[in-house]
Amino acid sequence: MTVKEIFENMEYGPAPESAAEALAWLVDQGDRFGHFIDGAFTDPGDGFDSRNPATGEVLATLSQARAEDVSAAVAAARRAQPKWERLGGHGRARHLYALARMIQKHARLFAVLETLDNGKPIREARDIDIPLVHRHFYHHAGLAQLIESELPGMVPHGVCGQVIPWNFPLLMLAWKVAPALAAGNTVVLKPAEYTSLTALLFADICRRAGLPKGVMNIVTGDGAVGELLVAHDGVDKVAFTGSTDVGRAIRRATAGHGKALTLELGGKSAYVVFDDADIDSAVEGLADAIWFNGGQVCCAGSRLLVQEGIAETFHTRLRARMDKLRIGDPMDKCIDVGAIVDSAQRERVASMVAGCTTGTVYQPGAGLPARGCYYPPTLITGLAPSDPLMQEEIFGPVLVSTTFRTPAEAVALANDTRYGLAASVWSENLNLALDVAPKLAAGVVWVNATNLFDAAAPFGGMRESGFGREGGWEGLRAYLRPAGKTKPLHRIVPSHGDDSKTQGGIDRTAKLYIGGKQARPDGGYTRTVFSKSGTALGEVPITNRKDIRNAVEAATGAAGGWARTTGHARAQILYYMAENLEARAAEFAGRIDAMTGGRKGAEEVVASIRRLFTYAAWADKFDGRVKGVPLRGVAMAMRAPVGVIGALCPDEAPLLGLVSVMAPAMAMGNASVLIASDPFPLAAMDFTQVLETSDVPGGVVNILSGAHADLAPTLAQHASVDAVWSFSSTDLSAQIETDSAGTLKRTWVNHAQARDWSGAVGEGHAFLDAATEVKTIWVPYGE
Ligand code: NAI
Repeated sequence: MTVKEIFENMEYGPAPESAAEALAWLVDQGDRFGHFIDGAFTDPGDGFDSRNPATGEVLATLSQARAEDVSAAVAAARRAQPKWERLGGHGRARHLYALARMIQKHARLFAVLETLDNGKPIREARDIDIPLVHRHFYHHAGLAQLIESELPGMVPHGVCGQVIPWNFPLLMLAWKVAPALAAGNTVVLKPAEYTSLTALLFADICRRAGLPKGVMNIVTGDGAVGELLVAHDGVDKVAFTGSTDVGRAIRRATAGHGKALTLELGGKSAYVVFDDADIDSAVEGLADAIWFNGGQVCCAGSRLLVQEGIAETFHTRLRARMDKLRIGDPMDKCIDVGAIVDSAQRERVASMVAGCTTGTVYQPGAGLPARGCYYPPTLITGLAPSDPLMQEEIFGPVLVSTTFRTPAEAVALANDTRYGLAASVWSENLNLALDVAPKLAAGVVWVNATNLFDAAAPFGGMRESGFGREGGWEGLRAYLRPAGKTKPLHRIVPSHGDDSKTQGGIDRTAKLYIGGKQARPDGGYTRTVFSKSGTALGEVPITNRKDIRNAVEAATGAAGGWARTTGHARAQILYYMAENLEARAAEFAGRIDAMTGGRKGAEEVVASIRRLFTYAAWADKFDGRVKGVPLRGVAMAMRAPVGVIGALCPDEAPLLGLVSVMAPAMAMGNASVLIASDPFPLAAMDFTQVLETSDVPGGVVNILSGAHADLAPTLAQHASVDAVWSFSSTDLSAQIETDSAGTLKRTWVNHAQARDWSGAVGEGHAFLDAATEVKTIWVPYGE
């Protein structure tokens, strides 16, 4: 046999990893687990078996948490929280560092247990999952150390309820737990029912590392336990990773409770290959994109878009690569594709593929292991973009593929999905790749790479892939809130009066401001605005759903162009508005005083001018960060506009409130639909004249008047509104958060608290954060 023949024919011999230590650890624990509450394991209760999907063997028995277990865990976390927070950044950093060290020391045990429990190849658990886990804890030890100097004025939420999936059991735990603890929160975590073992090993590590009791608590069980946890009154912040449907259910379950929420949900991420790509690299990358962890990856490159001219060659090489993938015992170090986590999941994948009627299905000929839960790597070509298999997350080793001709078509196809988690772009022409990357509706874009993760690089989605980021400073912020007491929300109702009592005669009826033009209300109704003493001050239109739809359409039309203007240009317009407002300061001050019955109108105008200056200043300074990731490249965490923001403006500050909401949205490149102060709308309606004289492109700002409670549902349900903010004096949080669940739009709502618009909480980072999406673009850089 020649060397060439040996290379071609050489079979990989088995290289099994030993399960002995991991199995011994399970035996040590008695093979039956309770929950980890207040620093100790509870006695095992009624529960269920946790199996090895590669063999079907029972690994351990887990307990199904009851409501009282969840309450006990939340109570323990609550008791532990103040002391944990008072420990300070350095104290917490030392604990996180100790956890990182302990995980690293037991890396092999964690990796083997993960593979036994989940079915992923040991090569992946050992070389990817667990190293990323300790990196995450080390990185967050550093963030904890720096938190006080870098994020002054921020405090933890309190108790975090966290629910995680089964695809990266320990890594998802790390993504949730490390930032929560770094920020000074305590945690109750529910791992996925299929894969709780490494979380329980982590609990054991917490105990051995001397983490104060109650800081970390783990309750096991199925979705019902997750439901109990996220709805628990004692939980201040909820973080979830999993399916979009459950994410939606959690959005609804937490609506109106004032809990902070981040959701990391499903995806159907595009893998875009241009004809000038390095084809072999792109094929190899694709093997990682879709067959890493058996495709059970939320950001899997599951939709191949390949340029027409190379499609045939690409598919041929891809099939050849698929033929060489080794599928089998995950504990074998030579294995590329392991087992599917559970037979229910395999059946779900199989039935989706079986439902394929129009495409061509390719699966390698080599058989699957005789026993265990396996599904072959699969390629489906020839599907229409609207085919369910092109649109729905399959969450298995199944790749769908289609072709495109031009970069514009590639972008259109890539964005033709309700998701927005990740994308890969392959081209040797970096001009092209970096032109396309910002146009992709995705929270993460990899250029000439795929599935790169790091603790410093924010990760998370747009659209129905959820909201919030994990990783880096951006992720840490989700676990913090501004310090300081808030005032209780106090509803301000419009004044009543006598229509015949006017102040110098009602001069004119204000109109709506839509698409840069004054517009009559669709319904043809107006209402009289009265002063505190009952004098009629003017008429404002009553907006209806049609008016909102028109305004959203105008905003949607303007959003793209406005987003592409430079920060410098946006700043000029904001300064110009300030100048024009100043020219009419006395008129606005008089209007505010007349409506509110106060004497602070002049002060409010000055504050509004100042606020316009603030956001003009920010317009070209709220930059992203470049992350020095420990991989060959950098991750650029860019700030992209959210799109169309619908906002219910503060009632109590008729002009300053409007400006405080409008200006950050504008400065960051968003278009907005603003509903004026409900009781005091006239200043906002007058402000349309300032917009008209300040070169604001039509549609970038639209101003409507009407009852907040009536209009909130339309804004929250509208598919083209990307975010809804409510600073109304009416608490509309339950309504808005429930209604937003359909499209999973971002919400920022007053929940039982008012803010002081003239003070520091009326402007700044929180507004800029809410007006932007973090978009992490990984590019090759250096060696
Ligand atoms: P899932 O979303 O139902 O489960 C994720 C976690 O949420 C688990 O810990 C589960 O116990 C918990 N959970 C379930 N219902 C809950 C509820 N109502 N309230 C609170 N927590 C709840 O995911 P599942 O059923 O395991 O997989 C179904 C599909 O979800 C998969 O086929 C896949 O398409 C998708 N999925 C997506 C993931 C991602 O990272 N994007 C991760 C896991 C699943």
